Amino acid sequence: MFAVETLNLSKRYVPDIEDSWLETEEVSDETIDNASNLFSRASSPYWDWRTEEEGGISAVAESFKEDRPRGARWILARSNKEHVGLVGPIPDYYEPDVAWFRGAFVLPEHRGKRIGSALMSEIARFAKHLGQREMIVYTFSSLDSLAPGALLYLKSGGKIEAEYLQLART
Ligand SMILES: CC(C)(COP(=O)(O)OP(=O)(O)OC[C@H]1O[C@@H](n2cnc3c(N)ncnc32)[C@H](O)[C@@H]1OP(=O)(O)O)[C@@H](O)C(=O)NCCC(=O)NCCS
Repeated sequence: MFAVETLNLSKRYVPDIEDSWLETEEVSDETIDNASNLFSRASSPYWDWRTEEEGGISAVAESFKEDRPRGARWILARSNKEHVGLVGPIPDYYEPDVAWFRGAFVLPEHRGKRIGSALMSEIARFAKHLGQREMIVYTFSSLDSLAPGALLYLKSGGKIEAEYLQLART
């Protein structure tokens, strides 16, 4: 059994969204179902191959919930009373103060309005609050162009430390 103090609601000005305010709060027992549902939908289309491998959208949503007991802390973002995005680390995963960054996820219909960028600012603040000095993320891009996730992380101050090549027959 463990007790964690969850981060309170905060508001961030994002001019491109409908009411210009993005509200964020840490995922709790009350919002875990919304968060897991959002995670599985916001992974599309880039992670459809993994969703298929894991057994579909419901299986992905379930595995999202299973991440919590192993220390995942997620921030859920809401715009105009609707949940629109998620971002989160597993603190101290690789070594003390070095987190596994699980990524930023925005629902397809809300992309391109700088919500992802706002989530990156929010996660930097949250990670510092949790005493993390570094976050490591594993993501993927095709050979000819970087995926939006990788571009977002680079734009938010991240750097590529290693690249791996995976070949798949289609
Ligand atoms: C990655 C993601 C979170 C971006 O969210 P977003 O709210 O659309 O991002 P923003 O509007 O804040 O864009 C910020 C930057 O990200 C990059 N970006 C976002 N969408 C992009 C796209 N479709 N193509 C190329 N770059 C893109 C750009 O660098 C952009 O900055 P710019 O507009 O000044 O060029 C969103 O596309 C998503 O949820 N993707 C699916 C989930 C995913 O793969 N997450 C990464 C997991 S590791």
